Amino acid sequence: MNTVVLGLQWGDEGKGKAIDYLAGNFDVVVRFQGGHNAGHTVYYRGQKVVLHVLPSGIFYPGCLAVIAHGVVVQPLQLVEEVRNARRLGLTLENLSLSAGAPLILPFHQQLDVVFEDSRYQRIGTTRRGIGPAYEDVIGRRALFVGDLLDEKAFRAKIAPLAEYYNRLFAAWGQPAGELEAAIAAYLEAGEFLRPHVADTTALLRRARRERKRILFEGAQGSLLDIHLGTYPFVTSSNTTIAGVFSGTGLSPKAVGRVLGVSKAYATRVGEGPFPSELKGESGDRLRELGHEYGATTGRPRRVGWLDLVALRHAVEVNGVDRLFLTKLDVLDSLAEIQVAVAYDCDGRRGDDFPGHADALARVVPVYRSLPGWRQPLGKARRLEELPQEARAYLDFIAEFAGAEIGYVSVGSEREQTIFIDIS
Ligand code: IMP
Repeated sequence: MNTVVLGLQWGDEGKGKAIDYLAGNFDVVVRFQGGHNAGHTVYYRGQKVVLHVLPSGIFYPGCLAVIAHGVVVQPLQLVEEVRNARRLGLTLENLSLSAGAPLILPFHQQLDVVFEDSRYQRIGTTRRGIGPAYEDVIGRRALFVGDLLDEKAFRAKIAPLAEYYNRLFAAWGQPAGELEAAIAAYLEAGEFLRPHVADTTALLRRARRERKRILFEGAQGSLLDIHLGTYPFVTSSNTTIAGVFSGTGLSPKAVGRVLGVSKAYATRVGEGPFPSELKGESGDRLRELGHEYGATTGRPRRVGWLDLVALRHAVEVNGVDRLFLTKLDVLDSLAEIQVAVAYDCDGRRGDDFPGHADALARVVPVYRSLPGWRQPLGKARRLEELPQEARAYLDFIAEFAGAEIGYVSVGSEREQTIFIDIS
C-alpha cells in the first residue's frame, strides 16, 4: 500500500530510521518537499549516514529514489551528497531528479543569513537558503533544475535575478555575490546531474499504473508547516500531507496509508514557542540521554515532554492511520514521565492547539504524570516484551492522539524496532 511518512513534531522525529525500516517493502521512495535543511540519519553497514536531499530508499538496490518538484535543490550540495553515497558503494543509477525542482541559488543562502542576523526576523533557520528559494517560487521568479541543462537560457534567466538580489543586498549594505564563478559551478553541477533529471510526475504516474509500491518521505515536521505550523517559526514548505500532492503531482488517491512519526518526548531546533520545554538540569539530562544535537547543523536541540495536544493536532491535520513512536528507550532511566494533556491560557483550560506562535507562547501546559519502567528496552522486539509501564505509556499516547501505534523504536539499529500487528 502506498504510504506517506510524516513527522508530527518539529522535525527530527526519527523519520530516517522509520523510512529505512520500511523502504525494503517499497519499489519507489520519493522526497516531495524541503531541501538540504533536512538531515535523515540512517545506519548503513554499521556506519552512521546523514542524508539531506537523497531519499532514504537509496540503500535498497532496485528501489527507485525520486526527488520530486516540491523539493528545493542546491545542486552543488546534491552533487556532494551523490559523491558521498558513491563512496559508500551505492551506484545511485536509479536516482531521478525533477527538472521542475526549484534551485537554491547563492543569493538565497546569502539572504537567509542576512535576515537571520538582522533584528527583523530571527527564526533560527538552518541558513541553507530554503526560505528565500521558496519565496522566489511564490514570487514567480524561480529558476529550476531543468534550467541548468541549457547554458544560454540559464545565463539569461539568472542575470536579472542576480540584479534583483544585488539591489536588495545594496540596501542592506551587503556586498554583491560573485556571479560568474557561481554560474560556472552550477552549470558543472547540472552536467553531473543531467543523467538523473526527469519528469518525475510522469515517472510516478507510470509507477502507479504499474502498481509499484510508493513510499513518500516527508522532511521536517507538521508543526513546522508553513500554513499549519507555529508560524512564523516554521519552514517554508508544506510539511504536512498537503505537500505530497503539490510536491509530486499525484492525487490523494495515490496514498493508501499515512504513517506519523513522533518521538516519545519532544524536541525543537531554532526559535519559537515550545510549551512543554524542559529547561535547566532536567533538560540537559534528557538532551544527553537522547543525543539531541542537530543532524544538519550540530546545534543542541531544545528538549521537553511529549505534548499530546500538539500530537493530536498533527494526527488530525494529516489523517494519520498509524503512529511510529521513536526513541522510547531514551526514557528508560526515568522514574516518572510527564505528558502535556491540556493548555491553560488566559484563565481558561482547553485542549485545542493554537495555530499562531503568539497564542502558543502564552499557554501553560497541564501535565499528566505516568510511571517510568526503569529498565533497558533496547532488546525488546515484540510488544509483549515491554514492561507493563511502557505499554501503559504507549496506550495512553494512542488513546489521546487518536491513532494506534504500529511501530515502536527502542534503539538506533534497524532491528531495534517493534512492529505491532493491528491490521
Ligand atoms: P529553514 O527550513 O532552514 O528555513 O528553518 C526554519 C525552521 O525549521 C528552523 O526552526 C529550523 O531549525 C527548522 N528546521 C528546518 N529543517 C529542519 C529539520 O530537518 N529538522 C528540524 N528542524 C528543522
